[in-house]
Amino acid sequence: MKVRVLGAGIIGLACAEELLRRGHQVEVVDPAPGCGASHAAAGMLAPAAEVWHGEHEVLDLGRRSLALWPDLADRLGVPLHTAGTLLVGRDRGDLQEVERQADLAGRLGEAVEPLTGAEARALEPGLGPVAGAALLPEDSSVDPRAVVRALLARVPVTATARTRADVTVVATGASLPAPYSALVHPVRGEILRLRTDDPPARTIRGWVRGEPVYVVPRADGEVVVGATSEQHDGPPVPTAGGVLRLLAAARELLPGLDRAELAEAIARDRPATVDNLPLVGPVDEHTVLAAGHYRHGVLLAPLTARLVADLIDHDRDPAWVDPVLDPLRPTLERSPR
Ligand code: GLY
Repeated sequence: MKVRVLGAGIIGLACAEELLRRGHQVEVVDPAPGCGASHAAAGMLAPAAEVWHGEHEVLDLGRRSLALWPDLADRLGVPLHTAGTLLVGRDRGDLQEVERQADLAGRLGEAVEPLTGAEARALEPGLGPVAGAALLPEDSSVDPRAVVRALLARVPVTATARTRADVTVVATGASLPAPYSALVHPVRGEILRLRTDDPPARTIRGWVRGEPVYVVPRADGEVVVGATSEQHDGPPVPTAGGVLRLLAAARELLPGLDRAELAEAIARDRPATVDNLPLVGPVDEHTVLAAGHYRHGVLLAPLTARLVADLIDHDRDPAWVDPVLDPLRPTLERSPR
């Protein structure tokens, strides 16, 4: 097939790479490759830390996609960081958040190790005082910018469409073209990049007097601190208030970050859907959506690529559409806000 992929973020590029591997002709179209949400993403491959009450499908999708990540990372020559996620609560109220998340993950079959504050600090000596913690040892992380760079080295991208296509895969994140634009709405996320000589060994996801924050370490001493979450209609820019809240919470959990270099503050829109589940499937005879990944674009990239390629290999046969992800599912008929 001749396939056009609109959007060179991690989702579009992963779909293109999989389609190329399966022998399709692929043209990716994006005037600014890799500059959308993928550029801000922290890269948590953390289905257990990211599952919320009432959204258990995310855990199942996340597990299926996490299982595909080692092969993708290997192909791309990008390391996976496999030390897990440490959930930490600064005070007794925050510890309830940790326990709620750990209980949910445990009930859904994830490995969870409850820890006292002292045990958590033995694992992560850079932690300040915390009321308690839980280790989710099966979570991982990856550097999304490294992944996008590696994908761009394999996949040709043009600024405008040049060839005729049999099928178009729409993977343009938070701004879908008409008539699909109402299926996603933007949820701004602000993140910071710090350089420190004292990074944590694993992802720290914490609550500090109710303020959620995560710190994701890279191999080179960079840490990503995220993320705010806010619905808005304006341009996604980092705000003074957002940066202040993130820094204050991260520094309280990891006091050594006080000495870190502030390398970058950036904001991008997450592409959210009304039920917080992605849109992966055909919407007409020639168009397949691969969009609406909300907080989970990096985690779900390899699974999305596989599902999109399976669909195209099978001529968009509805039998190959996962009903949970079907862009024509009835739950999406409600108002998106
Ligand atoms: N997956 C993390 C975030 O969206 O902030």
